[in-house]
Amino acid sequence: MTPQYPQAKPEIIPPATHESVVGLVHDLGNYIQIAMSAVSIMSRHADVAASEGLGAIVAHAADSLERAGALVRGSSDPDALQAEEVNIDTCLTQMGPLLRYACGPNIRIKLYIGLVPKIRCSRLALQNALLNLALNARDAMPGRGTLTISALLADGPEAPEVELTVNDTGVGMAPEILERVLEAHFTTKPGDGHGMGLPGVRWFVERSNGRLFIESAPGVGTSVVLRLPVST
Ligand SMILES: Nc1ncnc2c1ncn2[C@@H]1O[C@H](COP(=O)(O)OP(=O)(O)OP(=O)(O)O)[C@@H](O)[C@H]1O
Ligand SMILES: [Mg+2]
Repeated sequence: MTPQYPQAKPEIIPPATHESVVGLVHDLGNYIQIAMSAVSIMSRHADVAASEGLGAIVAHAADSLERAGALVRGSSDPDALQAEEVNIDTCLTQMGPLLRYACGPNIRIKLYIGLVPKIRCSRLALQNALLNLALNARDAMPGRGTLTISALLADGPEAPEVELTVNDTGVGMAPEILERVLEAHFTTKPGDGHGMGLPGVRWFVERSNGRLFIESAPGVGTSVVLRLPVST
């Protein structure tokens, strides 16, 4: 596969749109809080406590709501998504159950984590980026397939980087799709997609002073590569 480096087109968001998004995020925060209280009550219910299966489902819901709440807080308070030292091994291992749950039973998940140094970024934002990439991979593999996430140490242009690769064996993308995937609101999933997953991943990578590469071939699959600077 030949590496492709899609260029996102600059987009000017009019103030009215920005205001309405801020309002929407604020209201989402309220609903998340209500759902979290409901899940917390549910987790203490005798039927849930007695059932291993139900307990796990409620725990997934609580974990996702906590992440959603933290992201909503991060949108108005940049300190909530502050960069920290992140151990990739711990970060990915922590995400294992969530990835398995999100991808469903027909997708094999492989995690390969080499001996890599810590990186400096927001752990929550990194996990959110990886979840978005895993969901895209799942959508690209409607029958069966394999999602592989690997982390290794690589040489960067100036300093060492951690290379995180999210690879799928899905439908892949034609060049005319690939060159547009970083545009906000670009989606090929009508009624389902918002075209905000990959722009969010780009935002995270740029904020972390990293680099983003996407390779794809129709019928073969897609690899999204995040190169993130090693914490010094
Ligand atoms: N792994 C992949 N395999 C094939 N196509 C992909 C893959 N990842 C992204 N795409 C293409 O890029 C488009 C944009 O992806 P993006 O994640 O930004 O938005 P989306 O998945 O459509 O919607 P959402 O906002 O819910 O994430 C997708 O609609 C799809 O056409
Ligand atoms: Mg997506």
